[in-house]
Amino acid sequence: MLRSPASVPDPLWQHLRQHQQEHALSWWDQLDDAERQSLIEQLRDLDCATLERLYFQREQSYRVPDSSAIKPLDIVPAESPDNAAMRAAGEEALRDGELAVLVVAGGQGSRLGFEHPKGMYPIGPISGKSLFQIHAEKVRALGHRYGKQVPFLVMTSPATDDETRRFFAAYAYFGLPKEEVFFFCQGTMPALDLASGKLLMEAPGRLFLSPDGHGGTLTALAKSGLLDLLVERGIRHIFYFQVDNPLVKIGDPTFVGRHLMSRSEASSKIVPKQGPKDRLGNLVLVDGRCTMIEYSDLPDALAHERDAGGRLRLWAGSPAIHIFDVEFLARVTEGAGLLPFHIARKKVPYLDSEGRIVQPTVENALKFERFIFDVLPLAERWLVVETSHQEEFAPLKNADGADSPQTVRSALTQIAAEWLRSAGIEAPSVPLEICPLFALDREEFVRRVDRSQRIEGPTYFSQR
Ligand code: UTP
Repeated sequence: MLRSPASVPDPLWQHLRQHQQEHALSWWDQLDDAERQSLIEQLRDLDCATLERLYFQREQSYRVPDSSAIKPLDIVPAESPDNAAMRAAGEEALRDGELAVLVVAGGQGSRLGFEHPKGMYPIGPISGKSLFQIHAEKVRALGHRYGKQVPFLVMTSPATDDETRRFFAAYAYFGLPKEEVFFFCQGTMPALDLASGKLLMEAPGRLFLSPDGHGGTLTALAKSGLLDLLVERGIRHIFYFQVDNPLVKIGDPTFVGRHLMSRSEASSKIVPKQGPKDRLGNLVLVDGRCTMIEYSDLPDALAHERDAGGRLRLWAGSPAIHIFDVEFLARVTEGAGLLPFHIARKKVPYLDSEGRIVQPTVENALKFERFIFDVLPLAERWLVVETSHQEEFAPLKNADGADSPQTVRSALTQIAAEWLRSAGIEAPSVPLEICPLFALDREEFVRRVDRSQRIEGPTYFSQR
């Protein structure tokens, strides 16, 4: 048994002992003061009791609802007769400054294999603009259009925080007022050894930690004080999206209007699934609540069910675009640990008892993440609205193949070609791109574009 190294605070030592995690201090004597201090901070933040519970529940952490309880939900069609009225209501809220925009950008982007935060990826097919710049320019354009600055909240993680802040600063916040861009950092979770439940160490003075999932947004929003700040500023709704989708219609006034006219607490967009096993979360109805079931968890028979017209019965795929009511978020974040953890088996490099780094060849660890969609069933009133892949969903996930830079750039080109066609302009098959400051949507584009022009080569429609 390890003895308490001198200079380790006794309560911390006792806490680790109680949960059989004292091996985390095995290298204490070799650490310098700064390393000791930072290890103490990591260990102090740990909730060992929760980790222990998660480890014991590892086989049954998530239960898919019974198939008979999973039903399709009511979905507002993309083209609805009352869209104009909803848009007007949304525009009024935007003019009144009731909306904030939140992007989650704390992920490690491991599949893309880009060595910086994913938001820095240069995705513009012609401009080479980064995902962050495209999003920030949409937020800026919204502010111009409605005469009210929209606060832009950027959630980072310890893995992306520093570089993200520096990137925004280097680009002068992409023209947004600096004081309207709010960075906040999500929490982390340690990884546990699959066989023993012990904390894995990344280095002698450092636990292996990873971001606690996009569900960490809610805790981080509340902890950072931002949620209170939004309430003080009279912000009533938060438009939520993921950093990797440059097509998202940030602050879409029709969606905002529909959200507030139905007094929804949590509104979601969905895209029609193209096949039963699409790698998209499924939005469904369970016990009268809007619920997300991951594609890997949806029972096969249910995934393949079709209605009389041959359409998938559960056809609502999630592009992770939501509007949350601020009061709803304040309510749900009052209880600590509100969202459940999902447990994944992963290969995690670790320090063995001899102090050597081991690169595992099989899954050796449990990682824990919270998912934002677990907040949906907590909403008393909710709303689901259809949109299309082509219009609003082109996620950047992989280095090549599906959802790669090539498919995302081509989606940006396609939407530009589509808007050109609406303006009566045909375009040959060449890269096209529309700057959000030139036009935020099809109507604005049609109004602004010079209809006498001919498109002959790659064309960028930029702010004049
Ligand atoms: P993904 O689950 O696709 O993860 O995140 P990822 O980091 O982008 O990519 P992989 O899986 O490592 O290849 C979807 C969105 O959620 C954010 C990501 O930044 C992305 O916008 N996210 C994910 C967080 O903000 N925090 C997390 O802990 C996880």
